[in-house]
Amino acid sequence: MDQAMIIEINSVNKSYIDGYDRDRKLVLRDVSLKVNAGETVAIVGQSGCGKSTLLNLMGALDVPDSGSITINGKELSKLSPKQAAATRAEDIGFVFQSHHLLPQATVIENVTLPSLAVPKKRNAQSVKARAMDLLSKVGISEHANQFPGQLSGGERQRAAVVRSLINKPSLLLADEPTGALDAGNADDLTGLLLDLNKSEGIALVVVTHNEKVASKMDRKLTIQSGILQELE
Ligand SMILES: Nc1ncnc2c1ncn2[C@@H]1O[C@H](COP(=O)(O)OP(=O)(O)O)[C@@H](O)[C@H]1O
Ligand SMILES: [Mg+2]
Repeated sequence: MDQAMIIEINSVNKSYIDGYDRDRKLVLRDVSLKVNAGETVAIVGQSGCGKSTLLNLMGALDVPDSGSITINGKELSKLSPKQAAATRAEDIGFVFQSHHLLPQATVIENVTLPSLAVPKKRNAQSVKARAMDLLSKVGISEHANQFPGQLSGGERQRAAVVRSLINKPSLLLADEPTGALDAGNADDLTGLLLDLNKSEGIALVVVTHNEKVASKMDRKLTIQSGILQELE
């Protein structure tokens, strides 16, 4: 039986106006991609080739010039701004190179914050229980009541991963998640993302410069001159 498709990108074009010479620059050309439930995908390629642009489109943070993007059966261009916000909050988790934790909030407050965007069926007690369970899974439950400044870089990034998963998304988008970590912490975080991919059944799309990280994913994609290619 076919696995459920989480995201389908169909013939997407995306351009930006270059601020310097004011030319329109095509960053993604006729890009199509399908990712199934539970798959792991690496996106690699030169700086500036369009990796973040593609990830932002997949996460409904930006819109394509043409083509369509469908997440869990919902075509993004047909959603109202409110529905698009709900999709971002419920279906998708984001992790960036920088953790973006709020310094004045504790770890448990930081990781439960996104649940406020999904008022239905949320009760504070069960959200907190899930948060504690995830914090244990990633090995930082003893830091729940500390502030981000009291954690190491690797621990902060693990807290950011927990925050991304709090609303049980079906798709986790990570843009250079190990970019600011040393080799040991990068390995640990990658192992953790793969464990969560298995235990939560979440599809994982990771933009990375790290060959070792990329080699651990089921599929490897690259972008060259705006064209998406599947490697191997
Ligand atoms: N908001 C924007 N406005 C103008 N140009 C942009 C914008 N975002 C990205 N670009 C340009 O699009 C290209 C791809 O950028 P990006 O997707 O960030 O690359 P990567 O993540 O692969 O390093 C770059 O040339 C970048 O300068
Ligand atoms: Mg980028």
